[in-house]
Amino acid sequence: MATQRTQGSKEQQPGAGPGRRAVLGAAVLGAGGAVMGLPGTAAAAEQYGGRGYKDLPVPTVIAHRGASGYRPEHTFGAYELALDMGAHVVEAGDLVPTKDGHIVCRHEPEIGGTTDVADHPEFADRKATKVLDGVSTTGWFTEDFTLAELKTLRAKERIPANRPHNTLYNGRWEIPTFEEVLQWQDEQTRGRGRQVWIYPELKHPTYFRKLGLGLEERVARLLRKYGKDKRNSPVILQSFEPSSIQRLDKLVDNPLVVLLSSASSRPWDFVEAGDPRTVADLVKPEGLKWIASYAQGIGPTLDLIIPRDTTGKLTTPTTLVADAHAEGLILHPYTMRNENPFLPADFRKGTDPDAYGDAFGAFKTYFATGIDGVFTDNPDTGLLAHGDFVNG
Ligand code: G3P
Ligand code: CA
Repeated sequence: MATQRTQGSKEQQPGAGPGRRAVLGAAVLGAGGAVMGLPGTAAAAEQYGGRGYKDLPVPTVIAHRGASGYRPEHTFGAYELALDMGAHVVEAGDLVPTKDGHIVCRHEPEIGGTTDVADHPEFADRKATKVLDGVSTTGWFTEDFTLAELKTLRAKERIPANRPHNTLYNGRWEIPTFEEVLQWQDEQTRGRGRQVWIYPELKHPTYFRKLGLGLEERVARLLRKYGKDKRNSPVILQSFEPSSIQRLDKLVDNPLVVLLSSASSRPWDFVEAGDPRTVADLVKPEGLKWIASYAQGIGPTLDLIIPRDTTGKLTTPTTLVADAHAEGLILHPYTMRNENPFLPADFRKGTDPDAYGDAFGAFKTYFATGIDGVFTDNPDTGLLAHGDFVNG
């Protein structure tokens, strides 16, 4: 594993106040301190104890694809920086399969934008145009590469125009496998003396199942191998396709989260199955009740929490937080980023399009809605905002 190891910091981040649930979580870690030094086995998993995800600090700061505001996403560099910053959970990773059935961490199966594959002449003939969930997509796809081939590539910054500084790290890290992540999680838990949580997402499950590369069974098999398939295991699973979450519900006991895109969109498995429901239907009380019958939470867009008007400014919060909580569902919306283009217009600052805006103002506004956590590319900013919020 070509991981750049960093010194594991046990220090609390400034402003990342612990809050009531964090104190509870610390007590749980103390009780389960025997996990340190144990191998990543089922025996170690038995030590997690507690109430699982319910013991996470709230609002939970989830490092989106790692600390991807500062490092190329879905690399051990991005994941470890997130832990160094004190992120409560790391989204490690977005999961896609290889040709030979391994599971790797990339945001999308198309890897032209996040790796140096275009610089490898030996893979030039793999470039293809495919229809991915109804969208014509050109590039290189993980399902056309063996794991050994993918391991010859190096990750690069996905949005260099917005984040030119991150290109410094282009070429430094390889593509992680999910199995490496599960091993890394145990190493980091031991090294840092605190339980490391991960939040992997299954990408395009229907697309891959049709290719004979079903994700859920492979992910479940790996979770079982490392004893991390339990109700209180430190692994939350997510997908945009409800049928994938339903499938996982039958395979593992992990906490499960249904991701929700824009209100007018339909999950791709609904499209394939002829289910006419849209996300707008799923966020109604009836839809939330249905989700709560097999999942523990939802991951909506931030716009489903507070819609924006045509100028990009925030309007009035919806009733989604209250409605989801009424069904016992937690909410982890996505994605908070510090740069102006990604913030609501209310919080953009200055004339530099990629400068940081008032991210603290945006975090405060979203936290005030009662959300249980948020995915962010900037976990350090999120943790300071978390501290401001819980400490008043
Ligand atoms: O998993 C939360 C969020 O990551 C979903 O969106 O496209 O960034 O994977 P995406
Ligand atoms: Ca994701």
